[in-house]
Amino acid sequence: MHGMHARLPRHFVLEERLERYADVIELEPACLAGHWAEACAPLTPTGLGSFDEVRLDLGCGKGAFLVESARREPHVLFVGMDAEPLCIAYTAQHIVEAGLSNAIVVPAKGSNVCNAFGAGELSRLHLNFPTPYPRKREASHRLVILERLLEYRAVLSANATLRLRTDSQPLRDFTLTQLDLAGYNVVWTSDDERRDRPNEPSSEYEQRLTAQGAPVYGIWATPNPNAALGSVRQTASLSLVDYLPTDLNAMTYVPHGMQGTVLNLRNRASKRAE
Ligand SMILES: C[S@@+](CC[C@H](N)C(=O)[O-])C[C@H]1O[C@@H](n2cnc3c(N)ncnc32)[C@H](O)[C@@H]1O
Repeated sequence: MHGMHARLPRHFVLEERLERYADVIELEPACLAGHWAEACAPLTPTGLGSFDEVRLDLGCGKGAFLVESARREPHVLFVGMDAEPLCIAYTAQHIVEAGLSNAIVVPAKGSNVCNAFGAGELSRLHLNFPTPYPRKREASHRLVILERLLEYRAVLSANATLRLRTDSQPLRDFTLTQLDLAGYNVVWTSDDERRDRPNEPSSEYEQRLTAQGAPVYGIWATPNPNAALGSVRQTASLSLVDYLPTDLNAMTYVPHGMQGTVLNLRNRASKRAE
């Protein structure tokens, strides 16, 4: 989990956990593409049911946001997806322990979203505190890079929203450039989502980082059906350093994943000043 790895509890055997909670782990998401709402609905006395909506929590971490969202909205199917098996094990455990029948978790990378879901199947895509991958050479791993945003368009329904929350002002500003290139309309932004939407469920990272003084930036965006995307290409700077404020010493909070970089830049600037 990029810099904030959870220490494994003693006697924690990952394979054993994954097996124990296998009922809520979907290993072959492509088989459900286009049918998640019906395939995952519990049987009713009158036959097969269906969830009203399918929402994806991409990079769900240990599942706190997913589980609380699912608890609040039983008619919505919440799918968590994460690349880390340890996160899958924890999320699956939380789903089972909460007794939820409207949440499921998928071990996969964000680049698999298009194989896992059918056209227009998702009514919402949550990206809570995605790993920032601040360096230019690792930018392709960001869940908010142009290529990924173009892929998400295919699985989002017409009125679907992509909802980003992050403590990182550079990642927030980078994301705005990518949403513009990928033909999304930004419909809402916030510099303090906790203040503006205090009742939203929070994620583990949100709890940990806000306890350290982090702001929560929010963006909601929806795919613009009329966007001309024929010749779209990357034009934004890929290093998150380029989105930092000019006066680094005025920063009261350094975003998660950029502490080392900001420290180096501050040191270099003070050496130059000497
Ligand atoms: C900073 S954590 C945030 C976790 C959770 N959303 C939260 O707010 O607490 C980022 C999560 O994204 C996952 N992740 C990073 N890159 C990913 C990718 N390409 N595809 C899927 N998950 C990814 C990591 O394994 C990690 O669990």
